[in-house]
Amino acid sequence: MEKCFAHSTYTAATITRAFRTELYILREKSPFNKRFHLPLRLKEYMKEPFWEETYKVMDYKTLGRPSPEIIQLTKTMPENANILDAGCGDGRNSLYFASNGFHVDAFDISSNAINKIRKLAEINNLALSCKECSLQEFHFEKYYDLIISSGVYHFIDKNIAMEFIDKSKKHTKLNGYNFIVVFIDTLPIPEDLKDIAIGLYADHEIKDLYFDWETKFFKSYEFEDDHPGGIHHKHAANKYIGKKLTTASPLQVNK
Ligand SMILES: C[S@@+](CC[C@H](N)C(=O)[O-])C[C@H]1O[C@@H](n2cnc3c(N)ncnc32)[C@H](O)[C@@H]1O
Repeated sequence: MEKCFAHSTYTAATITRAFRTELYILREKSPFNKRFHLPLRLKEYMKEPFWEETYKVMDYKTLGRPSPEIIQLTKTMPENANILDAGCGDGRNSLYFASNGFHVDAFDISSNAINKIRKLAEINNLALSCKECSLQEFHFEKYYDLIISSGVYHFIDKNIAMEFIDKSKKHTKLNGYNFIVVFIDTLPIPEDLKDIAIGLYADHEIKDLYFDWETKFFKSYEFEDDHPGGIHHKHAANKYIGKKLTTASPLQVNK
C-alpha cells in the first residue's frame, strides 16, 4: 500500500490519557453501561482529537454504525461499483460498502485510522485498499461511482476543501453520487474541536456548490453525541447526496 503523506500535527498521547480512554471504552461496552461519564473528565488531557484514541482500539466503533443513507446507497450502486471514502476514519462507511461486495478506496490523514481499517479489512477479507494521505495530497487516479466525505471538510482550510470538492465532482462517473456531511456555523463548535474545525459551512452552502447536480437528499439538522472522556458534543450539520447528471462540471474554484 502506498503511504503518500506521513504527517501529524497532533501532540503525543500521554499514558494517562490512553489508560483513562481504555477505561471509558471498557465501561461503554459493559452490559451494565447506562451511558454515564467517567468521574474524572478527560477533556483537559485531550490535546489531540478524541477519535485518535479509539482508532487504536480494534473493536470500538468510533462514530458508531454507518449512516442510514449510506445503507440505502448500497442498494442503488451498480455491481462492481468503485467507491472512494475521503477521510474514512476507522471505516464505518468504507467497511460497510466493502462488506457488501463493492471495491473501496479509503484514505485518512490519521495513521491510527489507516492501521485499524487495514487490519479490519484483512481479517474480514474485504476488497478495500487504504492509505495514509491528506485531502491536500490525494491524487485522483480513477473515476468513482460514489465519493464519500463524512465529517471531514470542516476540519480543513475551506479553499482546499473547495478544490477537493471540485476534483471529486470531476472524478465522479456519470450517474454517480457524492455523499457529504459538514458542520455548519449555526451552532458554536465544541471547545475541544475549536482549534481544528477551521472550515465551517453556511447552512445550504454545500448543496449550492452542487447546483449543477441533482439533489437526491438534503438535510439540515442538529445532533448530540458522546465520546470517550465524558465529552459531549452538540453539532449543526448539513447532509447532502447529489447525483451527477452531466460530465460537464461548471464549478471552477480558485481559477
Ligand atoms: C469526525 S472523523 C470522521 C471519520 C469518518 N469519515 C466517519 O464518518 O466515520 C474526521 C476524520 O477526518 C480526518 N481528517 C481530518 N483532516 C484531514 C485531512 N486533511 N485529510 C484527510 N483526512 C482528514 C481525521 O483524521 C478523522 O479521521
